[in-house]
Amino acid sequence: MAWRCSGNSNEELIQNLARAHIIKDPAVKAAMLAVDRGHFSRYKPYEDAPQTIGHQSTISAPHMHAAALESLSPYLGEGAKVLDIGSGSGYLTVCMAHMVGPTGRVVGVEHIPELVEQSKKNTAKDQPSFLEEGRVAFFAADGRVGFPQEAPYDCIHVGAAAESMHKELVEQLKAPGRMFIPVSDRAGQGIYVVDKDKNGRVTKSRTMDVWYVPLTDVQTQYER
Ligand SMILES: C[S@@+](CC[C@H](N)C(=O)[O-])C[C@H]1O[C@@H](n2cnc3c(N)ncnc32)[C@H](O)[C@@H]1O
Repeated sequence: MAWRCSGNSNEELIQNLARAHIIKDPAVKAAMLAVDRGHFSRYKPYEDAPQTIGHQSTISAPHMHAAALESLSPYLGEGAKVLDIGSGSGYLTVCMAHMVGPTGRVVGVEHIPELVEQSKKNTAKDQPSFLEEGRVAFFAADGRVGFPQEAPYDCIHVGAAAESMHKELVEQLKAPGRMFIPVSDRAGQGIYVVDKDKNGRVTKSRTMDVWYVPLTDVQTQYER
């Protein structure tokens, strides 16, 4: 029951997610304690539910952020290079930047320019040094083709539901590397964890049913 994890403060929310075993990894817990969702969501930041951030977009629910960080954690070590597609509020991008440390880099790609500007402002409130030192960077671009300018990546997070497993994204993963991506298929939307091993062999597993906004073009997003 994810909603039971809601709290009155960032710390209470994260402790509740840990108590419910949604957060298990100490590195994930440390990152989510260090990054205050109150700097990234104007509405009910400590409720365990998605909230609007305008432009037909949402900041995802805390339990989904925790699930993504838990899955990607083995690839978010010191110095890792990471791509966050559909970075929206910037919250998860900054959590991942906390985990990769000062020698790592997390690139957030978001196709709504106003949200890119907002994510920079949110980050400046929470972790201004991350922007200054280049540990985090946000770009306005169509994430359906990844971000080849900075590839390859140790891991890729996709924050919106794709219609298919875009081959460009798999190509931009390092070997080894991992991608966490919601994909719409016959069974509805599901999270796929895509692993590329050190020999470049790719395997996929569907881990849970979800409901994300679509990974789409700007016009379609505004017409939804
Ligand atoms: C559910 S929101 C998640 C945002 C972010 N992970 C967060 O929690 O704040 C999905 C985001 O994907 C963005 N998006 C949708 N299609 C996109 C595309 N083709 N390229 C880049 N971003 C896209 C949306 O604008 C939206 O901000």
